[in-house]
Amino acid sequence: MTTGSQHCLVTGGAGFIGSHLTEQLLDAGHAVTVIDDLSTGREENLSAVRDHEKLTFRKGSITDPVLLTEVMRGVDTVYHLAAAVGVKLVADDPVRTIETNIYPTETLLRHAAQQNIRVFLASTSEVYGKNPKEQWTEEEDLVLGPTSKPRWAYGCSKAIDEFLALAYHRKYEIPVVIGRFFNVVGPRQVGHYGMVIPRFVDRALANEPLTVFDDGQQVRCFAHVDDVVNAVVKLTNDDSAAGQVFNIGSDFPVTIKSLAEQVVALTESSSEIQLEPYHTEYGSDFEDVRRRVPDLTKLQAQLGEKPTRTLEQILRDVIAEKRGQC
Ligand SMILES: NC(=O)c1ccc[n+]([C@@H]2O[C@H](COP(=O)([O-])OP(=O)(O)OC[C@H]3O[C@@H](n4cnc5c(N)ncnc54)[C@H](O)[C@@H]3O)[C@@H](O)[C@H]2O)c1
Repeated sequence: MTTGSQHCLVTGGAGFIGSHLTEQLLDAGHAVTVIDDLSTGREENLSAVRDHEKLTFRKGSITDPVLLTEVMRGVDTVYHLAAAVGVKLVADDPVRTIETNIYPTETLLRHAAQQNIRVFLASTSEVYGKNPKEQWTEEEDLVLGPTSKPRWAYGCSKAIDEFLALAYHRKYEIPVVIGRFFNVVGPRQVGHYGMVIPRFVDRALANEPLTVFDDGQQVRCFAHVDDVVNAVVKLTNDDSAAGQVFNIGSDFPVTIKSLAEQVVALTESSSEIQLEPYHTEYGSDFEDVRRRVPDLTKLQAQLGEKPTRTLEQILRDVIAEKRGQC
């Protein structure tokens, strides 16, 4: 286990998860450089630590190899979170996805190999695609749809990142850990890119209808961002986790319809819940994943713990934050 003060680079550090991670690293006494192009992130996400003496913020893109080389100089650990995020955004601009999610990861790993830098790679449950199993272990097959459907480009781009990271680990022995996030939620997440909880809470607080796609029986598990960040930092600094893939999330399943009902109840809203076909938002050839539940046995065995905050605690946190903004 690596302890002591480090210089960390957080790519995508002004984003939802990246900003919580940056705060936690600064709290632990580390120096943090953030690189973010603010495409989906926001500078306000870092407002609590903006004036911290150990924080350096660089506005710019990881697709700029000169800048990426510069920010990696002298760094001990890289948390690589910057990405074109979310199925909808990625489907709308597949070229940007490849430029953002694949080439810079390779550059970053090359520098990490040359400078012996520790790396955390943020991957996603989307890599499992539509694998029909009830619960997914890390060794499950990836069951992606056809390349003609841009919906699969996100999971596919992250799967390529994983192959790259594992290849660099094998060849150059870089201590790299891959975390597959399952629906991370909490304060600062925004609903513009299809993220369901902020979208539902915004609508419920405005007493407007909540749109649930299809029959609402899709199953998901939601993990609090603080629990996820905690796991990320521990895994990254655990030498015995290097070269491995971990599911990171909650394993408590809920249907999207039930989620909508809980949001309405907790906000004491008069909103109605409306079922709508996917194609109204995602186009006619959209394929969804019906069930997405992680097996967390490996995470639990490695860390002796797993995310524990309940859905109700998560929803109360998000509702409190959004009420504060009204
Ligand atoms: N939130 C989830 O449930 C979830 C699930 C699975 C995987 N992930 C992964 O976690 C990571 C963080 O996601 P998030 O939910 O915080 O989303 P986010 O959009 O808030 O964070 C991504 C950050 O990367 C930045 N970014 C994008 N392109 C960039 C570029 N070219 N150069 C520099 N910065 C760039 C964005 O501005 C943003 O701040 C991503 O890699 C995402 O794929 C998230």
